[in-house]
Amino acid sequence: MNIKQDIEKIRSDFPILSREIYGKPLVYFDNAATTQKPSVVIDALTKYYTEQNSNVHRGAHHLSNLASETFEQARIKVQKYINARSIHEIIFTSGTTESLNLVAASYGKKFIGKGDEIIVSELEHHSNIVPWQILCEQTGAVLRVIPMLDDGTLDFEAYLKLLNPRTKMVSVTHVSNSLGTIVPIKKIIDAAHELNIPVTIDGAQASAHMAIDVQELGCDFYCFSGHKTFAPMGIGVLYGREELLEVMPPFKSGGEMIKIVTFSKTTFNDLPFRFEAGTPNVGGAIALGTALEYIQDIGLNFIAEREKALLDYLNKQLSTVKEIRFIGTAPEKTSVVSFLIDKIHPYDAGAIIDRFGVAVRTGNHCTQPIMEHYDIPGTIRASLSFYNTEKEIDVLIGAIEKVKKMLY
Ligand code: ALA
Repeated sequence: MNIKQDIEKIRSDFPILSREIYGKPLVYFDNAATTQKPSVVIDALTKYYTEQNSNVHRGAHHLSNLASETFEQARIKVQKYINARSIHEIIFTSGTTESLNLVAASYGKKFIGKGDEIIVSELEHHSNIVPWQILCEQTGAVLRVIPMLDDGTLDFEAYLKLLNPRTKMVSVTHVSNSLGTIVPIKKIIDAAHELNIPVTIDGAQASAHMAIDVQELGCDFYCFSGHKTFAPMGIGVLYGREELLEVMPPFKSGGEMIKIVTFSKTTFNDLPFRFEAGTPNVGGAIALGTALEYIQDIGLNFIAEREKALLDYLNKQLSTVKEIRFIGTAPEKTSVVSFLIDKIHPYDAGAIIDRFGVAVRTGNHCTQPIMEHYDIPGTIRASLSFYNTEKEIDVLIGAIEKVKKMLY
């Protein structure tokens, strides 16, 4: 098979890609917001609700045992996907946002206090800023920010200068959702660990694009979302090193996370259940396991190569439009391109581009500090996945030409 046939075959795995919007073929370039779902994932969810639906870890009946077993198999699939040492280190959450909130609220509450410092970067999504800010307000800790350079790379020298004995956590993104910058997290982790400072990684924009090996990275916490990784919404993962999770207080409380409850005292469950209060998203977790297997079947090397080719083509085609201003031009990027068309407001451009059936995201992408850095209200963001095509990029370029005609 040649690459074109490969892509056609892959596209047929995603039912939504064959639908039309305003009578035109859908061009889905909003993969950083959420990825589309292959049939195998949709089928896994349907199968769970059709044949297995039952609560987990509770009943002694057949269905409950089946659901529990399938749910725990999904945990093993996640463990393997990120090469965690143990299933105790894999906590199912509702998504990256909840995972980051868990770390800030639980680890932060116990180990971060007045005058301590937490380092984030200017590249962060609001989800990796606000939980730490709230912790700072509650504890009197101080938030420090690694600046970014104008091309959207992180200022590594400035980071090294921020590290000091008061630093109690470094929490940075693996990949910027707005700009696509790949952050050199291994170097960041190594530098922090020299001072015994733990590191949390927001992997929301990495998990669908590159191999993640938490042992090789050595990170202390790693968070990602199912829905950005071809799985359903409402399921996500927190990886935490077992030694740290073991000594962290519960985040949410209720059923499942306890061992014994009396009115005088409650003892807590073992890992990972201690951090999974209430009924989990069983179907979502099972479908996430299937999505990770799907990615492995396609192959992360293939995905990386394909997305690099698409990124190069998109950059090349956009460069032919003289009014395009690229926002974020870091040398190491995933297939995310943010841009503006001269002085045209991104919302106005987005509304016209949409009429071509092209889904791009416009706005600040939940990264207001990045927009402030460039002094712009927002960007038009095209975020591609391996199932996109060069022909779709041409449709976007045609839509941009139309924007120029209509708004100049
Ligand atoms: N964080 C998601 C995005 O970048 C929603 O679009």
